[in-house]
Amino acid sequence: PFRIAVFASGRGSNFQALVDAQQSGALGGEISMLVCDKPQAPVVELADAANVDIFAFQPKDYASKEDYEREIAAELQQRGVELIVLAGYMRLLSSSFVEFYSGRIINIHPSLLPAFPGKDAIGQALAYGVKMTGVTVHFVDGGMDTGPVIAQRAIEIQEDDNAETVAARIHQVEQKLYYEVVSWFAQGRVALNGRIVTIKN
Ligand code: GAR
Repeated sequence: PFRIAVFASGRGSNFQALVDAQQSGALGGEISMLVCDKPQAPVVELADAANVDIFAFQPKDYASKEDYEREIAAELQQRGVELIVLAGYMRLLSSSFVEFYSGRIINIHPSLLPAFPGKDAIGQALAYGVKMTGVTVHFVDGGMDTGPVIAQRAIEIQEDDNAETVAARIHQVEQKLYYEVVSWFAQGRVALNGRIVTIKN
């Protein structure tokens, strides 16, 4: 099978959507492990319930980022992971890790990049007053939410919206989009040329 590792830090709604897609056959691959930097996060329980291997760690137990990333890389290699899927992993990967897995790490971000990178993208969009925002799936490079864009979906912001209502719609869109993008990778359909991503038929 096409083996996937999901990296997540929180609630895990995107992780769960990927698990559901695997079970229905829509993912076209296998979630071989969850990597989580917060052992108490709800996503760890979801992985446990789904019988997905878990590598959970506390960054503060390690002298450096390189130290824990070396352990993560060993776990990935052991399982033959071909694609790293960041799903609310709220930590930057080191540039050497990103380079080693270049072209094999993707992220989902709750805005239409390059608008509103970084933390609290939904709050940033509301504070700015944009009338549309959305979701971006992109390759991870050395920067913060700067890698080549793979797919985007837009949503409108209405006058009676607030952070909760926008977040709810963003999450719905994310959960439909992310497994589909992963399935394109499983089918070998994603091509990267400089910054330009194309999806082959
Ligand atoms: C998602 O909305 C994702 O787009 C966002 O975190 C949320 C995780 O939710 N990621 C970022 O903001 C990355 N900068 P989840 O834990 O329920 O999947």
